[in-house]
Amino acid sequence: MRGVNLIAYISVYHTANELEILNLGVASEERRRGFGRCLLETTLRVERKMGIEKAQLEVRESNHAAICLYQSCGFSKVGIRAHYYSDFGEDALIYACHFCSGSGSPGIIHAKNYCCKLENV
Ligand SMILES: CC(C)(COP(=O)(O)OP(=O)(O)OC[C@H]1O[C@@H](n2cnc3c(N)ncnc32)[C@H](O)[C@@H]1OP(=O)(O)O)[C@@H](O)C(=O)NCCC(=O)NCCS
Repeated sequence: MRGVNLIAYISVYHTANELEILNLGVASEERRRGFGRCLLETTLRVERKMGIEKAQLEVRESNHAAICLYQSCGFSKVGIRAHYYSDFGEDALIYACHFCSGSGSPGIIHAKNYCCKLENV
């Protein structure tokens, strides 16, 4: 589509009561402005309403920015996939977030003003 710049995207896979976060990206010139957190938190909020009890993802062990984001959204390291990435053989860290059943809230910690626009998605 012409005239439209993609700022951020998230790609997820939903099975039964679990969510796999496949990828999350923010355009390099738009980073550190809250878009990554907004997308992740909004996705978790919507998916939580749909009944997921757990979200999981893999991240390169060198990806400090993404790891900080996931940890600040309630994810914890649950495992390692050794030499997972074929380019440099880097390990993948497995992060997961479990939600309390019936809480109605995904345990999202931070809510910023810009999330208000999306919270009814
Ligand atoms: C990871 C990524 C999605 C973060 O998006 P973002 O919009 O820049 O992140 P936000 O501005 O919402 O920041 C949210 C939190 O992430 C962490 N964070 C983001 N960038 C960081 C950096 N460069 N260094 C350290 N922490 C960082 C911080 O904890 C931050 O919270 P704070 O602003 O209160 O300190 C973005 O850096 C990106 O697209 N990276 C390339 C693609 C990628 O690695 N995707 C993840 C694949 S698993």
